[in-house]
Parts: sequence; structure tokens; C-alpha cells
Amino acid sequence: MIKGTIDKIAGPLVVADGMKKARMFDLVYVSDYGLIGEIIELKGDKASIQVYEETGGLKPGDPVTATGKPLSVELGPGIVAAIYDGIQRPLDKIREVAGDWITRGISIRGLDHDKEWDFKSLATVGQKVTGGEILGEVPETKLITHKIMVPPKVTGEIIWVIESGKYNIDTVIAKLKNSSGETVELMMYHNWPVRKPRPIAEKMAPEEPLITGQRVIDAFFPLGKGGTACVPGPFGSGKTVIQHQLAKWADSEVVVYVGCGERGNEMTDVLQEFPELEDPKTGEPLILRTVLVANTSNMPVAAREASVYTGITIGEYFRDMGYSVALMADSTSRWAEAMREMSGRLEEMPGEEGYPAYLGTRIAEFYERAGNVKCIGGDRNGALTVVGAVSPAGGDLSDPVVQATLRVVKVFWSLQAKLAYARHFPAIGWLESYSLYTDNLKEYYDETLGTEWVSMMKEAIALLQKEANLLEIARLVGAESLSPEDQLILYTSRSLREDFLHQNAFHEVDTYTSIAKQKLMMEVIMHTYEEMGKAIRNGVSPGDLFDLPLKEEIARMSYTPEDNLEAIEAIKNSINSQINDLTENKQTA
Ligand SMILES: Nc1ncnc2c1ncn2[C@@H]1O[C@H](COP(=O)(O)OP(=O)(O)O)[C@@H](O)[C@H]1O
Ligand SMILES: [Mg+2]
Repeated sequence: MIKGTIDKIAGPLVVADGMKKARMFDLVYVSDYGLIGEIIELKGDKASIQVYEETGGLKPGDPVTATGKPLSVELGPGIVAAIYDGIQRPLDKIREVAGDWITRGISIRGLDHDKEWDFKSLATVGQKVTGGEILGEVPETKLITHKIMVPPKVTGEIIWVIESGKYNIDTVIAKLKNSSGETVELMMYHNWPVRKPRPIAEKMAPEEPLITGQRVIDAFFPLGKGGTACVPGPFGSGKTVIQHQLAKWADSEVVVYVGCGERGNEMTDVLQEFPELEDPKTGEPLILRTVLVANTSNMPVAAREASVYTGITIGEYFRDMGYSVALMADSTSRWAEAMREMSGRLEEMPGEEGYPAYLGTRIAEFYERAGNVKCIGGDRNGALTVVGAVSPAGGDLSDPVVQATLRVVKVFWSLQAKLAYARHFPAIGWLESYSLYTDNLKEYYDETLGTEWVSMMKEAIALLQKEANLLEIARLVGAESLSPEDQLILYTSRSLREDFLHQNAFHEVDTYTSIAKQKLMMEVIMHTYEEMGKAIRNGVSPGDLFDLPLKEEIARMSYTPEDNLEAIEAIKNSINSQINDLTENKQTA
């Protein structure tokens, strides 16, 4: 413990004297309140400390204690279903201790150390183990089996293991003899510094899509399991709704949701809504496979930074168990603003728009913690997918946070104000967005959905691109002057937009579409395109085709329940007969 004293206080930044022996990123207790902070700059014997709690009432001369340890999280049973603040304090425990008042310096551990868990011992004496090796299992919730692993970097031979039974997390469950002959006691949890990525054996390109049930994403701009995506957009364009939809519907096993200081009431919605949501796959409460890290509006800005690191470390920990984890951060702009504020107070040389010069590095380091990986300590793979919302002022994509994010992520879902304004949701622009995973995932699609999936999606996107050009021409010379073929492209593109891409997150059926149903829906639309094309070549007038009632049948597809997909299949026959009738009339006329 290194003891110093406060020299000066500037908002969330405290400068302390007498800190010569402290290290960067040491965890610090500030004043007799014991406020938690982290050293973010050391100059001589002065330490600049980013304090994660309100600093009002502190004064020069107050004591400061550096613990000599970095800001860490406790990793073990009890994380799932927890709702934490940025430094892993359970919000319900804070409330118990402090009531609804914001109290400072509350020291509450991330895990419950009294609760007993059903531990199933899986290791054997004599076994040589390395970091990541699974020692046992705990049924943490109905949805998650928690694997108790040897902490990274610990190796040795097991000399003792506990019998299966009910224990708290402080109970020693195994003892190792390490290479120096020392005995190492292992418990059901360990600590890990949040700024340090947890080690992996190997990082691989994503091989499987994260199926989200959101059609524009799955079909056009897919995210790979272990991949990264960025959702920038102006206020009200649907960033939060997309993040929520992914948390609810994406086929990951564990969800980490980092709510990073958007509007105060928005985070309150998350905290109230999430515990009540049902997991679509199991019918159990969704929270049983979710961890929430929340910065409510009454928490100081600096805590946003901690929350991002706390969230990703928890994500990596479940990835290490072999799970597919999805982390959503809403919004990383608030985190960047916290960096900007601290950097300003440190009087660092500002970069673009006042953000620190290291903004890009920090953002890249964060997204690089995502990945589809071979885990350490055993033959298993895990994946950590990261989706970050970015909220630049006015939706301006030249914003430094957007730019820094786009340099590292592989998927860009570009939310368009004009689509949101026209109530076309999700407002993901089909001309502006991209996914760099499409090629990686092709093999998976070819095997599971047939080779026609990828070619159909390419054709659909190509039609929408042609539409943009044709609309421009039509604007200049009038729609009447377009050829029948071009009119058909406009008709089909409109159908693609309105009947496929548009998806109402708040409609009980439309909110989620299985891949099987997405494929059927797309087949129906493209089949119509093809059949109408033939009819036009046989001399049928486009106007007659576009008036056919099949239009309404196609519009209803998105509301057709998943257990009635034959109804969508049947539309194809209806389309054939309606178009055939017109063609035959034409020929007999
Ligand atoms: N997929 C969607 N389906 C229906 N409505 C949506 C959808 N996405 C967004 N909205 C509407 O847009 C509003 C703003 O979305 P929100 O996610 O809060 O925006 P942001 O987080 O970008 O400020 C929502 O309250 C909702 O009414
Ligand atoms: Mg939002």
C-alpha cells in the first residue's frame, strides 16, 4: 500500500502527492470515503487519478491509498443475471446498503462470497493442468453451466481435489504443485485486471454467422460469431432498439449488455425491461443468460470507461468456458467523451475534436478483444462478438469515434435518418452498409442453406442498387419513360424494402424471423420477379402485373407465424396461377 495525499481536485480527476512508488492503472482509494479510482498518469511523485465516484467534498490533504493492484473484476459463479455498475458493484446490493441515495465509497464485491453453489468436481489428482483447464462445473442458472477453470497463467500438477458438493466460492476446490514446488490453492473464482485481454490459444476468422432474426442483418449484412460491428446513427435512428433486439434474439449463449450513459431513462428501461424478458429459445427469463453493466445517469463520466472494460472482461471469461458470447455496448460515444474529458483535465495535447490522440488505439484495443478463438486449457472453441453503437452529433459519420471504430470493425450497419423519418425500421441503409464476413461465411451458408442463399442475396442487393439509379433517372425524365423491365426492377425493389427489409421490432411475429423463413420470403419475392419478367417478355403489361392481388399476399409474409411456413410456400403457387392467367389472357386475346 502506497499512501499519499490529495494535492488538487478537478471534477473526476484527483492529483495526489507522495505517489512515487505507485504504478500506472493501480487501483486507488481516495479520501476517508474510500472512493475508487485508477491512476491514469504518473509524473514524479504526482499521480493523476480518475475517480469513478463523485468527488464533491474532497479537499487537499485528504489521504490517498494505492493498492498496488490494477482495477480487476471477480470472475466466478454469480455473475450471470447480475446487474453491475461500471466497477462491478451489484446495483441491488448498493441499493440495500445505501437506499436510493447515491452513496460513495461503498465497497461491495462483485460476487456473493456466502452463497453456496452445487460444485461438480471434474479434475483428478495427478493431472497436469495449465490455465483454462476445467476443474469443475456449477449450474449457475437454468440456462448457464459455469465452468470453473484454472486461472490463466497458472500451471502445475493437481495434488488434491475436493469432492462434489455445496460450497461457497472461497472454498478451496483444488490444490496444485507448481514447477517451483509451491502449493497453489484454487477457488471457484479468480480476479482479472479489466484492461488486460485474457489469453487465448489461437484466434480464427469467424466461421458461423450470428443469427439475429433481423432480416436486413442476417440476409444482407451478417455478423460472424466472434466478429465486430458498429452501429452509428443519429439520435432516434434505432441504435438502442437494434442492440436490444440482438440481446434478445441473437443465437449467442451469453449476453453482456453494457449500457454506457445514454439518456438516463433509457438505462432505467433496460434495467426494468430485461429482467422481465423471456428467452425465446427456452421460455426462461432472458436474464438467466445475461449480464448487465450499467452506468445510470447519476454516475460520473469516468465510470463509463470502467464499464466498457468490465463488460468485455466478463465477456472474455465466458468465451473461455467455450460459450458464444455477444457483447453490446450502447453507446461507445459516451465512453469516448469520458476519455476526452479526462484527457482535457490532464491537459494532454488534444487530437481531433478534442479527443485524445490515443482514442483510435483504445477503440482498436477494445474491438480486438472480440474473436472466434481456440480457448486455452482444453479442446474447445469460444466466441466473443462485439457490437458497439456510436452516437455522433447529428449522425455525422466523419466523427472521430465513428472513424476510429470503422477502421477496426468488419460490419457497418449505417442507420439513416431519412429511413427512420419515413418509419422504415430497422433504418439500416442498404446502400451504405457492409459486412466483410460474407465471404468467410459462404461455406457455412452453402452447406446449411444451399448455394442459392448467397446468390439470391447478391441478386437482391444488386436490384436495390439498380433501383437507386433508376429512381434518379425517373426523377429526371419521368417514370413512364422507363422500360417495362426497369419498371419491374422498381416494383421488385420496393417489395424487397417493404416486405423483407422493413421489420417491426414491436410486432410479436415480425420481431424475429428464422433463417428458414427469411429464405422462403426471399424466394417468394425473387420468384415473383422472375415470373413477372417472363410475362413481360410475353407481352403482358407491367401495370396489370403490378395490380395483381399477390402483392397483398407477399406483404403479409412477415406476419406469418413461424409454425405456418407452408402458408408462405403456398404463395408461390398462387403467384404462378395469377401470372399465368394474365399471360394466357394475353395470348388468347
Ligand atoms: N426495428 C424497429 N421497429 C420499430 N420501431 C423502431 C425500430 N427501431 C427503432 N424504432 C423506433 O425508433 C425509436 C428510436 O429508436 P432508438 O433505438 O431509441 O434510437 P437511438 O438509440 O438511435 O436514439 C424507437 O423508440 C422506436 O419507436
Ligand atoms: Mg439510444
